[in-house]
Amino acid sequence: MADTITEPTTDTVLEVRNLRSGYGTVPVLNGITFDVRNEIFTILGSNGAGKTTLLATLARLIPVMDGSIHVQGQDVSNMPAYSTARLGVGYVPQESAVFPDLTIMENLSIGAMIGKRSTEERLEEVFDTFPDLRTKTHLRAGNLSGGESRMVACGRALMQDPQLLLLDEPTAGLSPLYVEQFFETIELIHKTRNVAVLLTEQNATKALGIADRVMVLSLGEGSEPLDAGDVTTERLKEAYKL
Ligand SMILES: Nc1ncnc2c1ncn2[C@@H]1O[C@H](COP(=O)(O)OP(=O)(O)O)[C@@H](O)[C@H]1O
Ligand SMILES: [Mg+2]
Repeated sequence: MADTITEPTTDTVLEVRNLRSGYGTVPVLNGITFDVRNEIFTILGSNGAGKTTLLATLARLIPVMDGSIHVQGQDVSNMPAYSTARLGVGYVPQESAVFPDLTIMENLSIGAMIGKRSTEERLEEVFDTFPDLRTKTHLRAGNLSGGESRMVACGRALMQDPQLLLLDEPTAGLSPLYVEQFFETIELIHKTRNVAVLLTEQNATKALGIADRVMVLSLGEGSEPLDAGDVTTERLKEAYKL
């Protein structure tokens, strides 16, 4: 399987080796190995495949049972989430990604507690990325639509000036118009900010459109990463173990 991965290259942001994690004593991930470079790396997998478990483990919210996680060459396997955030990991969870009782501005400002650049400069960049938020900063985040709420969550992660952005099914449940827009925005974020993006997705077609590489998560294991351009239906089926 993916254990035959080559040595990390100099632009490797994330190295995951034989990662096992789950809930209580029951593993969900049974030894996942892959690298993420400065690219858009997509993890595909059906419902229950372990995508959220993987991203939450990488964000250090779920304990590592075995194996290791390195961010920018540093072993973060046992680090708490706030330390990985300082190392440049921005995490946008699938659900409950905003503080509902805080305003948009307050939600975004929390992200600025990490790093040295001025809050104003970072806010300006976030509003350039998500123009819809600019005039709504005083609104309570709990009153926003699904799409707006996703923008705030992503904006807050960007306020941390991340090197690696973890996006858990960023377009799940959004209306088709928002889905298109959000994928375009993710591509823009990657290109203009020079940030590596690791995203999970159930819909292969949409995700392949922006991804550089793709890995399929199935039965607790990850397929060999494929170049998105080389993906065929046959190879996907094989990766999904269909
Ligand atoms: N908090 C939890 N406690 C116990 N099992 C969980 C928990 N969250 C998820 N699981 C189980 O872990 C497996 C993977 O779930 P998840 O990572 O959410 O998959 P995905 O995000 O790909 O839909 C599923 O079998 C799910 O039932
Ligand atoms: Mg999930």
